[in-house]
Amino acid sequence: MKTLPVFGRRPLQLIEETEQEQLIVSAPLAGAVVTNPMMGVLADASVADLRAACMARLDANTVALMAPERLTGDVERLISEIATERRIQINRREQRALAMELVNDILGLGPLEPLLADDSINDIMVNGPDKTFIERQGKVVLSNIKFRDAAHLASICQRIASSIGRRIDESSPMVDARLKDGSRVNIVFPPLALDGPYMSIRKFGRKPIDFAQLVEWKAMTAPVARILEIAGKGRLNIVISGGTGSGKTTLMNALSRMIDEGERVVTVEDAAELQFQQPHVVRLETRPTSLEGRGEITQRDLVRNALRMRPDRIIIGEVRGAEAFDMLQAMNTGHDGSMSTIHANTTRDALTRIENMVQMGNMGLPSRAIRTQIVGSIDLIVQVERHRDGGRRVTQVTEVCGMEGDVITLNDIFQFEVKGEAADGRLFGIYKISRMPPGFLPRLAYFGLDKPWRAALDDAERV
Ligand SMILES: Nc1ncnc2c1ncn2[C@@H]1O[C@H](COP(=O)(O)OP(=O)(O)OP(=O)(O)O)[C@@H](O)[C@H]1O
Ligand SMILES: [Mg+2]
Repeated sequence: MKTLPVFGRRPLQLIEETEQEQLIVSAPLAGAVVTNPMMGVLADASVADLRAACMARLDANTVALMAPERLTGDVERLISEIATERRIQINRREQRALAMELVNDILGLGPLEPLLADDSINDIMVNGPDKTFIERQGKVVLSNIKFRDAAHLASICQRIASSIGRRIDESSPMVDARLKDGSRVNIVFPPLALDGPYMSIRKFGRKPIDFAQLVEWKAMTAPVARILEIAGKGRLNIVISGGTGSGKTTLMNALSRMIDEGERVVTVEDAAELQFQQPHVVRLETRPTSLEGRGEITQRDLVRNALRMRPDRIIIGEVRGAEAFDMLQAMNTGHDGSMSTIHANTTRDALTRIENMVQMGNMGLPSRAIRTQIVGSIDLIVQVERHRDGGRRVTQVTEVCGMEGDVITLNDIFQFEVKGEAADGRLFGIYKISRMPPGFLPRLAYFGLDKPWRAALDDAERV
């Protein structure tokens, strides 16, 4: 038995198996091994006994290199041997379930493995060892996944953190990480997490999503998709705005497909999750402060550096601070076709947020100057929303036109209006269209895209 540093009031007990798990932090994640814990029949004490004995006999270095299927077979035999020695009654099905559970623990992320293997799940939210919620088709529900105890969950969190060279414990209780498959993970430990550890996973779509897929999911109509495609091809500077999990990053990935193969794209992200398909993409990721409180590299540092890397386009995963200023500069200085996402509720709100971010990083800059800069930089804002039916939709496509006095003028090219609810609970509605010719039409004409733009608007009206 070994005692971990105290989390909150309660010391966590690590049993031998956790030590074993820690030895193999660099182990590859298991494939899609699905656990089916049917262990309810056996007394808890016998299971714990078997589990501990089995883990004690496995050589961590060897098993870390084994294929999951082979290891499951070996562990099953070992369980059967130990059960015979200790006179524990266990049937084949229980042996197999326990073997799978152990293999998931050793090679993968324990009880989370089946959720990670299930492509229909977007988000996994672990609220302590007993409660794990999942999001499926826009709806959040409680799953039947449980961890053995807080120590079991903590050890899995620690493995995720150490796989990217970070540590998670009481002294550094928050970590942003990424799983081997690219899924984004945030972990918060006690004492900050009162019933924790808490873990939030945004799964990484295995299949990159394009506009055809988004139209099929009814995130937008085909003409709206075409307009966005034209905007991407015509190198407009685009900001995608929306709430948490509304589909901003997904839309940016889809838009990125319009980027020409010959262009040099530099991406800047806090936790890399963009899936660009072009050959010439340079990906930068921020670095948090080290435990000694040094060495932080912010998005602003990276955007400034990106400007010196001869980029054609600069893509910022999400603007959240002082880098907003540098983003506007980049958009304004020949890096047409730059893009970013932002957390905001409406397209107008997105501009206010950008203005505030610039102001916070550059005290004393007059509002009017910032607004002029915004108007000169951003061409289009696309708003995405997650509606109450779980559907994610493009709700506004707005052109940033100019200034009237001190106010930025906007033109909603598309605006989605909910018209009602179908029998299956899905919302339906229409796009209202503005026919005012956008200020960037000459730019589209330069790329030969003005006619397709008008045609797409005509189509949109007919739908
Ligand atoms: N139109 C859509 N229909 C169905 N699912 C979608 C749609 N758009 C995105 N998703 C799914 O929703 C989840 C959240 O999407 P995404 O990561 O793009 O959101 P986000 O707004 O960038 O979130 P965050 O605010 O956390 O950065 C993803 O799992 C994605 O696959
Ligand atoms: Mg995102």
